[in-house]
Amino acid sequence: MALRITQRTWLVIVIIAFMTTVVHTESGVSGDIPDDVVYTDLHKTVRIGDSVVLTCQFRGTPLAVYWKKGDDPRTAPNLVSWIPTDDVTGLCEGERPCQVMEMNEDRSLAIKEVSIAEEGRYICRVSSYRGILIHNFTDIRLFSIPEEPYPIIKQCANDSSQICSISASESITITCLATSFYPDLDLFFLHGSQKMKDIGSTELTNHDGTKNKSISIKASASNTPYICVASDIPGSKDQRAATIMVNSPMISPTRGNEGFPAPSSTNAGTMEKTPDTMELTPRSMEITPGTMEITPGKRTTKIGNA
Ligand SMILES: *[C@@H]1O[C@H](CO)[C@@H](O)[C@H](O)[C@H]1NC(C)=O
Ligand SMILES: *[C@@H]1O[C@H](CO)[C@@H](O)[C@H](O)[C@H]1NC(C)=O
Ligand SMILES: *[C@@H]1O[C@H](CO)[C@@H](O)[C@H](O)[C@H]1NC(C)=O
Repeated sequence: MALRITQRTWLVIVIIAFMTTVVHTESGVSGDIPDDVVYTDLHKTVRIGDSVVLTCQFRGTPLAVYWKKGDDPRTAPNLVSWIPTDDVTGLCEGERPCQVMEMNEDRSLAIKEVSIAEEGRYICRVSSYRGILIHNFTDIRLFSIPEEPYPIIKQCANDSSQICSISASESITITCLATSFYPDLDLFFLHGSQKMKDIGSTELTNHDGTKNKSISIKASASNTPYICVASDIPGSKDQRAATIMVNSPMISPTRGNEGFPAPSSTNAGTMEKTPDTMELTPRSMEITPGTMEITPGKRTTKIGNA
């Protein structure tokens, strides 16, 4: 009996000693990671021009680590590779990887400055401590916030007054634009609650891969402002708007005219509202309040019980 207990005690000691050794050879982050598994982020969303670190976690000390770009871990070209005799940063391959990428000590991939060229799938392929090749991947998605201010109504570009207005005796073209965004953005005009049909739109791609977009509408003199709305803005959940008034030259821009309907000049071609064809989308209700304050101050001030 005594012999058996001693044997068991020894067994426990040996097991503890063994486990301690195993834990000791692992890096801190990979303590709970099973054999033959690589953990990476599924995707990373990065602003163009920012830096990013792609993590790669696995069990034990690897025989080699390869960061690759592409879909197939066997054929995708190496960006940076590392074996235990290499410098901690690993060896880069190719012009762009050598400019912006290197490995960290924990075998994560650091990209210094992300450009359009860095969009895509990154594979971390590891020759594990058991000598087995394992991998996982991270998709990099990019975005770029439009250049401020946006959106811009072209016809208001030089207008420093609080409410941009132009006068037109006939229908005129109004253009609204946003620049340097990625990947996409929606621009449209509202006239009252009516979403207007544009007469043209352009989308241009800049050298850095970001885009410029503009849309144009035909507008004519109206008491209702024309509002250009930017929605689905990269990096933002809000909408932005810019406002323009199109006045008839018949109304002299003197004080005291406010509240009177515009004299309906026959050649002004006033927009007819057709409520049945246009629906106010719920989104257009989210226009930031600041930009909607077109009517002169209607604020009520609470007096008393304060
Ligand atoms: C890849 O990484 C994800 C996220 O960390 C993880 O859920 C998944 O199990 C990994 N797949 C493999 C094959 O290691
Ligand atoms: C704004 O001003 C610039 C220079 O002062 C001029 O070239 C341009 O045509 C003006 N734009 C508009 C829309 O009035
Ligand atoms: C996009 O807009 C920016 C800012 O107005 C301008 O500098 C750039 O030239 C435009 N890009 C293209 C392709 O037209």
